[in-house]
Amino acid sequence: MRLCVRVNGTSVVRDVPPRLTLADFLREDLRLTGTHLGCEHGVCGACTVLLDGASVRSCIMFAVQADGCDVMTVEALAPPEGPLHPLQDAFRSRHALQCGFCTPGFLVTAYEFLLERHGVTEEEVRETISGNLCRCTGYQGIVEAILLADEKWDR
Ligand code: FES
Ligand code: FES
Repeated sequence: MRLCVRVNGTSVVRDVPPRLTLADFLREDLRLTGTHLGCEHGVCGACTVLLDGASVRSCIMFAVQADGCDVMTVEALAPPEGPLHPLQDAFRSRHALQCGFCTPGFLVTAYEFLLERHGVTEEEVRETISGNLCRCTGYQGIVEAILLADEKWDR
C-alpha cells in the first residue's frame, strides 16, 4: 500500500506491506532506531512516538494507519551534533537512565506531557509515566528529571 507520511518534518512516500507496523517502518525502512521495541504488545512504552502530537505505541499500529499524519520520533528532540534537548539534559543530570532501553519512550512521553504545561506536580509526572516501564532505575531519577525539565525548558 502507498504510505505518505511526514516523519520528523520530512515527507516520506513508500510502498509498504499493509501489516508492517509503524515501529518496524521507522526502524527498518527509515533507520530511525531510536524508537525501541521491548514487548511488542503495547505494554512497555519503549516504542512511543507522537502521531499528530499525541503519543502512540508504534508497535501496535500499522504504518499505513499513519498515512497523511505527522510522526515525531525521539530523534527529533535534538540534532545529532547537539546540543541536547532540555529533557535529555535533565535525564543526564538526574541519572534518569541506566541501560537506556526505555529512555526514548520516556522522553517522547515526557515531551508530549510538558509541551503545553508548566509547573507540573510529582503526582502528575508519575501518572503520566505510569504507562512506561523501566527495569533499571526505580523511576525516581526519571520523575526528578521531568520535574527539572519543566523548570529548565523554555517552551
Ligand atoms: Fe511497544 Fe512495548 S514495544 S509498547
Ligand atoms: Fe534500563 Fe530503563 S534504564 S530499562
